[in-house]
Amino acid sequence: MIFVSLDNGSYREKKNKYSEFSQRLIMKPFRFNLPTKIVFGRGSLSRLGDEAVRLGDRCLLVTGRSFARRSGYLNILTEILEESGLKVTVFDKVEPNPSVETVYKGAEEGSKNGCDLVVALGGGSAMDAAKGIAFLLKSKARLEESFAPNEVGEALPLVAIPTTCGTGSEVTKYAVLTNIRKKRKEVLLGEPLMPRVAIVDANLLNSLPGELVAYTGFDALSHALEAYVSRDSTPLSDFFALEAMRIILGNIVEAVEGMAEARENMLYASMLAGIAINCAGTEIVHAMGYYLTNYHDVHHGLANGVLLPHVLRLELQKGFRKLDDAASTLGFENGTGLVKKIEEIADKTGIPRSIRELGVEESELDAMVADVLSYERNLNRHPFPPTPEDIKKLFIVAFSRRDSST
Ligand SMILES: [Fe+2]
Repeated sequence: MIFVSLDNGSYREKKNKYSEFSQRLIMKPFRFNLPTKIVFGRGSLSRLGDEAVRLGDRCLLVTGRSFARRSGYLNILTEILEESGLKVTVFDKVEPNPSVETVYKGAEEGSKNGCDLVVALGGGSAMDAAKGIAFLLKSKARLEESFAPNEVGEALPLVAIPTTCGTGSEVTKYAVLTNIRKKRKEVLLGEPLMPRVAIVDANLLNSLPGELVAYTGFDALSHALEAYVSRDSTPLSDFFALEAMRIILGNIVEAVEGMAEARENMLYASMLAGIAINCAGTEIVHAMGYYLTNYHDVHHGLANGVLLPHVLRLELQKGFRKLDDAASTLGFENGTGLVKKIEEIADKTGIPRSIRELGVEESELDAMVADVLSYERNLNRHPFPPTPEDIKKLFIVAFSRRDSST
């Protein structure tokens, strides 16, 4: 038997039918392609030269404005690349939530220097900007005409080196860019954007402030849960999502406190969650979080972290039982137990309990709902595509402090 629909009611019905067969999955057709070579482990940064030299001669090194230079990693990377015979041009002007304009500037710099390879060092912002730059350097197309639902057909080879434990961009086909004028997130999408090599070295997380470990960790947890709930999920994406959830729930508190092993675990889990969203996408939590980031400058992961428990509670209220399955696989009694655990770690890691604490006002409610509705692709992945009333209700609940006692 093949089931292709995961809508809520039929899923429950099928699951009930299945209960007589232990551990049988609800199978559906899927494609899985991970062209990224993952080089994981402490010290793996030393492999950069060998990997990069196979992909190009003239490298554009893309980073944010401060961490790479301040930490000394910009010099270290430049030396590694030059010692391997590559010519290096640095573009270190990527801001948090990178703009379309920044991507054009980076591409101009790369083009002026004849770059045929892009290396990204940083969090999601640097990696996503680098993907946009790699696309522009190869295709000469305009970004504005290339955003999803279009898919890009070409890009220069990219090596991605994450310095946070959240985005998973080192293994995804997505680049999320900001249109500042329209206050809107746009997605560049396509398999050519997937890095050829991801160098995943937990040494780079040593000096990451605990606060950023919490924010990016909650971004990764949102990726895992949204991919798991998504209509586009498959047994294979569920496998990555569940493992990511298990590791994040067991490590995030100690990682925020600074434990090195826990941080390395989080880096691994965020990569797994990246593979899960690469298959199944993100959905409502990200669509709602974009408003908080675009209009109130709230960190992407923090926005997701505040919203996630509220969305999960609504899904449980609506009877979406797949969360109960996740919970039981992870050792909780039911979905509510899983959500309570998430609320507990949110409290322990300093995630505020309401969006009011982020500076958002209730007078913005209608604008917030309208903004979320514009992210149609995200909403359509949700098992019960939310109505404007659902979104309004979620925001109203998110204005009041979460209460983990029920
Ligand atoms: Fe995200």
